[in-house]
Amino acid sequence: MAMERLRKSLLVIACLTTVLFIWRGQIAGNPENCICTEMVAVESPSVLTKSSLNEQIGDSSDTYLLEKSVMATDILENVGDIWDASVDKEAYLRAKYDNFCYKPEEPYFKHVQPLERSKLKQRGCRKKLPQIIMPGARKCGTGALLRFLKIHPNITGAPEEPHFFDQRRANLTTSDYSEKMPYSTDSQLVIEKTPTYFYRPHNTPQLIKDEISSDTKIIIVLCDPVRRAVSDYLEFIWREKRRSEKHVVGKKLDSFEHLVWDHATIRGGINQLNEMIDVGIYAKHLIRWFDVFSRDQILLLDGTLLLTDPLSELKTVERFLGLRSFFQKDHFSMNEERGIFCMDFPSEYCLPGCKGRKHPHVDDKVWASLCDFYAPYDRSLEQMTGKHFSWVGKCASQDQ
Ligand SMILES: *[C@@H]1O[C@H](CO)[C@@H](O)[C@H](O)[C@H]1NC(C)=O
Ligand SMILES: *[C@@H]1O[C@H](CO)[C@@H](O)[C@H](O)[C@H]1NC(C)=O
Repeated sequence: MAMERLRKSLLVIACLTTVLFIWRGQIAGNPENCICTEMVAVESPSVLTKSSLNEQIGDSSDTYLLEKSVMATDILENVGDIWDASVDKEAYLRAKYDNFCYKPEEPYFKHVQPLERSKLKQRGCRKKLPQIIMPGARKCGTGALLRFLKIHPNITGAPEEPHFFDQRRANLTTSDYSEKMPYSTDSQLVIEKTPTYFYRPHNTPQLIKDEISSDTKIIIVLCDPVRRAVSDYLEFIWREKRRSEKHVVGKKLDSFEHLVWDHATIRGGINQLNEMIDVGIYAKHLIRWFDVFSRDQILLLDGTLLLTDPLSELKTVERFLGLRSFFQKDHFSMNEERGIFCMDFPSEYCLPGCKGRKHPHVDDKVWASLCDFYAPYDRSLEQMTGKHFSWVGKCASQDQ
């Protein structure tokens, strides 16, 4: 059984490696395209050495066992006592504010008004580098996850995406980075999310390890790469429209189908050089994170589950971070009208909708090609991680 799994993993990863090397060849022949520099960098040979791949495959069965044992403790935990901060609003406010650095303000994930200087000092509040980094993937629900997590009394986080590693100017130091974090005490974990880190720059994992800490915990949310690409496109359109409103230029925008299709070859196909497509090749990017951080430092979440069952994903995060269990079933309820989860405790809060971005119907042929394109990468992802993702194998119908 185990041998069979291992053999399959090897086959799939060998396949992936071949694909990447063929791809690399294509890129090398096309140097004037500006996207290419980045793509070549992404596939630096160190990433795909045989030994590192073997290591990863060897690890995946361990991860699987780890996940099972975590489930078992979860059951015990639920039988145990419940933190009063989880059920009583006064107790929540005490846990969230009595020892920490900000004035209470709704919604409670916002930390806007710090206490007076003397009080900050007295409580040991300071700005420290993030211990947890959420590098993406873009459009998979990292923003929603961050808001929920920051409700936990022991978690605080950057109010905005710092983009420290991807847009950094030469003279920006780690103290500029910590300046972007909220005040926190030693009893709080600081988290930041910047959804571009997942895929660029290619050495972000190494930079985090070298410049921040080798103990940094990484939380990566992944979701259906086909739908992710469409969401990415909608955001792109939204930004372009906003920009043209400002500059009054009436530019006609290319359709999603046009942008993701490879027009350079006669046969056509999905254009993997397009960033909207590249981000969703999760296995390829994940290898670079697995190369630098140990497997128990990286938590992978299913962005689809985050929408349909946020509690289970939040409990997974609590266990991963070693925090006392705060989130409870009755903290969340489904808003049937909008089809999203809202928080009922400690105060009512609904995630913002998708800024009015309803997914358009994608040309069926292009949709089917996208499904075919990502299927082998999704299988590699499951083999590499020993984890099943809810969207895998369910791509065929786009109107679900
Ligand atoms: C250093 O950063 C400042 C802004 O903080 C900027 O004005 C300046 O041009 C930068 N210098 C270099 C050499 O990058
Ligand atoms: C959470 O914060 C409380 C203070 O409110 C502290 O006593 C406790 O140790 C913290 N838990 C962790 C895991 O840091």
